[in-house]
Amino acid sequence: MRASSLHGAGLGLRRELIPDLKADRSAAIDFFELAPENWLEMGGSRRRDLHHFAERRPLVAHGLSLNLGGPAPLDEQFLQRVKRFLDEYRIDLFTEHLSWCGDDGHLYDLLPIPFTGDAVRHVAARIRRTQDILERRIAIENASYYVAPAIAEMREIDFIRAVLDEADCDLHLDVNNVYVNSVNHRFDPRAFIDAMPAERIVYLHMAGHYQEAEDLIIDTHGAAVIDPVWQLLDHTYTRIGTRPTLLERDFNIPPLAELLPEVGQIRQMQTHTTQRHARACGNPECPPEPLSIGVRRADWIPARAGMTEGELCHAA
Ligand SMILES: [Fe+2]
Repeated sequence: MRASSLHGAGLGLRRELIPDLKADRSAAIDFFELAPENWLEMGGSRRRDLHHFAERRPLVAHGLSLNLGGPAPLDEQFLQRVKRFLDEYRIDLFTEHLSWCGDDGHLYDLLPIPFTGDAVRHVAARIRRTQDILERRIAIENASYYVAPAIAEMREIDFIRAVLDEADCDLHLDVNNVYVNSVNHRFDPRAFIDAMPAERIVYLHMAGHYQEAEDLIIDTHGAAVIDPVWQLLDHTYTRIGTRPTLLERDFNIPPLAELLPEVGQIRQMQTHTTQRHARACGNPECPPEPLSIGVRRADWIPARAGMTEGELCHAA
């Protein structure tokens, strides 16, 4: 099994930021995330840009349009193209939204999947097929949603857990989405994170949002991360150990210099988490990071099942 080089704090590879990113010599960003839909089979300067960044940092592919929860047949031709792209750029991790985006699959409007047993089986079969075609484990991202699905047989927590088990895939935990949903649907975000299977969490997102009203948040990715979401990230790291974590910024994109402090804050929190734990257990290399990212399903060993920070510890 090849250990993934993915670690630390990352930023989205957005076209607006490319000149700043090329000029940046700070080494503040450990990896870049991109939407394969925006980069597949590009030629000319786009291709040269992609090679430039792929030679310098690991890349993560975060899909927009696979429509895992939708009724239309899975676009297997598209997945074959994604597979070639991932192989060419040695991308271990592909993640997608646990949602659906309309019948034609390209509305880019992510809707919640009904939390039912039928939906678990439907989406899990599509995830398994995706993993077979990509020849990688994939991670699914918990989505933000505003109207609870009309037909629900279970809570969102139970739905996500059931899909992960049935599909045998990993979780891309968006910490801001947990916070947004906890305000809009009134639940305890820490309890939600504690209920997620830590051994399957391979990747995190952090983002800002727009507070429309006291009890309504819109998940815009268009502002700085707020303190309660930083606190929730700290809770997550304390609970499960650190994971590669991306700062999402998709709208109102400022110059890179304004984003780097937030990327730096992620990295600082990761360092503090590792140091705090190492002090407690006396082993400077503890806790280990779970580096099963993207490995073929047959090679995956759930050696750290039920892992919490304490259980990860060599001395525990
Ligand atoms: Fe996200």
